[in-house]
Amino acid sequence: MQKGGVGKTTTAINVAVSLAELGLRVALLDLDPQANSTKGLGVDMGPDDVSMFEVLIDVEEDRVPLADALVKSKYGVLVGAAHRAMRRLERYGLGPSGYARFSRQVLELDVDVVVMDCPPNLGELTVAALAAADSVLATVLPGTDEIDALLELQRSVRETQEGLNSRVSIDFVIATIYEGGTLVAKDVRSSLKSEWTSEYLGEVSKTVRVKEAKHARVPLVLYAPETEAAKDYRRIAKELNERMPVHV
Ligand SMILES: Nc1ncnc2c1ncn2[C@@H]1O[C@H](COP(=O)(O)OP(=O)(O)OP(=O)(O)O)[C@@H](O)[C@H]1O
Ligand SMILES: [Mg+2]
Repeated sequence: MQKGGVGKTTTAINVAVSLAELGLRVALLDLDPQANSTKGLGVDMGPDDVSMFEVLIDVEEDRVPLADALVKSKYGVLVGAAHRAMRRLERYGLGPSGYARFSRQVLELDVDVVVMDCPPNLGELTVAALAAADSVLATVLPGTDEIDALLELQRSVRETQEGLNSRVSIDFVIATIYEGGTLVAKDVRSSLKSEWTSEYLGEVSKTVRVKEAKHARVPLVLYAPETEAAKDYRRIAKELNERMPVHV
């Protein structure tokens, strides 16, 4: 999703790890130059390690195939790590066949599911993700302008549908950092339930343990498995598994 700080990275990490726990082979591609999901999965990048930057660059001599760029994290998920250098891609683009090449490589990966974490804008890297994806999972942070942000995302997805990738659609919506007691949260929940009835997979509770887990660089579902938020993410992963074409 294009909005910042709405739980995209926390969701990508915890859904990916929960899907792997169910027995699926999962790859998480970190397409955000901030590299938060790379860090959150405890992956350390050395100076010579290959990242998504080398996968996506326009310069053929320096390019590395996606399958060769994945590293195994401690938590059973393969990671396509992000690097700050990816800001350059955001500025100069992926080149004329960049989207198609990336999309083909994502489809050909020898895994059951590919999770892509997007940066908080609708730039080149988010478009690359939309071009390669079958489904978008939109995270909505209950607040006054959040439904509008979702509609804006829907416009971008529709544009991608008409041009780069006819398969993609917003198939899943969740409410994140959810505070059940607040009026605004209840409002957002009821509008999501009525306007995204079949896509809405429920809420992820707010908990301070998310920040602690981030600091420890351990996914919440393993760091604090007993929290409501961890249970929410495992439930969402189960639901996703059931709705996916390949499932266990
Ligand atoms: N369930 C939760 N409870 C409490 N805090 C949370 C929860 N989920 C996420 N957060 C916190 O909210 C902030 C934003 O979350 P996150 O990084 O997942 O969002 P994002 O959409 O990926 O942000 P960005 O747009 O910067 O990439 C982080 O500090 C994270 O620790
Ligand atoms: Mg993020």
